[in-house]
Amino acid sequence: MHVVLPTAPVTGRVSQSRLCTKGKSASFVRHVCVDVSGTPLEGSWQAGQSFGVVPPGTDANGKPHKVRLYSIASPGYGEDGHGRILSTTCKRLLAEHEPQSDKDDPTDHRLFTGVCSNHVCDLREGDPIAVAGPNGKRFLLPADRNAHDYLFLATGTGIAPFRGFIHELFVGPPAGTPLHAAWRPCTSNVHLLMGTPYTSDLIYDDFFRQVAKERPNFSYHTVISRETRPDGGKGEYIHHYLDRALPQFDGLLRNERTLIYICGLAGMQVGVFQTLAKRGLADGFLDLHEEVKGVPPADWTPEQVKRRVHATRRCMLEVY
Ligand code: FAD
Ligand code: A2P
Repeated sequence: MHVVLPTAPVTGRVSQSRLCTKGKSASFVRHVCVDVSGTPLEGSWQAGQSFGVVPPGTDANGKPHKVRLYSIASPGYGEDGHGRILSTTCKRLLAEHEPQSDKDDPTDHRLFTGVCSNHVCDLREGDPIAVAGPNGKRFLLPADRNAHDYLFLATGTGIAPFRGFIHELFVGPPAGTPLHAAWRPCTSNVHLLMGTPYTSDLIYDDFFRQVAKERPNFSYHTVISRETRPDGGKGEYIHHYLDRALPQFDGLLRNERTLIYICGLAGMQVGVFQTLAKRGLADGFLDLHEEVKGVPPADWTPEQVKRRVHATRRCMLEVY
């Protein structure tokens, strides 16, 4: 971690930028590749970590903008197989102005454009980008990948680290690169659940479908919150899907080999943790504080889940 500090970022070059949603989506999410060759970041990250971007210019107080973190969407060997090009999955933050303090005009509802996400998404091939990192030491695959089975849960851009993981587990380094010959596909069972508002918002959908077609031990589940389901049911969140399709996951979740990884919207763990506990599947994944032990999981408040329900070493959480 912290091979490059955000106070002294290094210059990478954007080598690719493309929309990575499935169709005409109301949100703009880009797969942005950054060439970090020749910098200390080259070969220095693992899938699941994030990296920092320092946007140019200054904030409203005249201070340099702060660093923002972005999950690395590449495998540890990079987009290129040599660890020279990393990527992320950047969503433009677009919102209406809202007062942030008493001094702000409450009638101002102009468009608010997030500083760093729009900077990253505006960059074109060849443009410089100030980067730092890598960050994160917990949201990583275990050293022995085949010793575990996996449940991966993503919402929105939370899919980014899972692209890197799935690459490492099932695709492998490109031919002709140093790690190619020794790589073997993972033999474990892996389920990925991806939640988005509409089908058109799915990210890297073609990639995951292709891998699922080629690898029978990888299952890809899409969970759409604002569309009617093919069976006529209402749209749902990933924990509703997990609950509804439980017979499919019961064996996986009762198996001591299984690791759970959760990435995306802050708060998404609340429903997931409640569902696991409600179904008697929390053992090994969650540590419950005395305060919540006697309370039915459906009655846990989000605050209680955050403070009183802790993920064990078999449950990895990255929410923002
Ligand atoms: P900012 O300009 O920093 O705005 C941030 C917030 O301030 C917004 O919520 C905005 O609504 C609010 N705000 C501020 N002023 C106003 C105002 N006047 N009116 C209304 N709202 C206002 N993001 C990704 O897209 N992809 C990733 O893979 C990713 N990975 C992450 C990994 C980690 C570990 C973390 C911590 C975060 C990650 N993020 C990721 C989020 C990312 O770091 C940024 O927070 C995000 O891109 C928004 O930054 P910004 O500079 O565009 O927005
Ligand atoms: P919705 O927005 O319909 O409430 P994105 O980041 O692209 O907006 O996608 C996030 C997805 O996660 C959306 O489908 C969103 O549904 C859903 N979502 C929102 N809140 C939660 C939550 N607490 N738990 C799980 N999923 C959630």
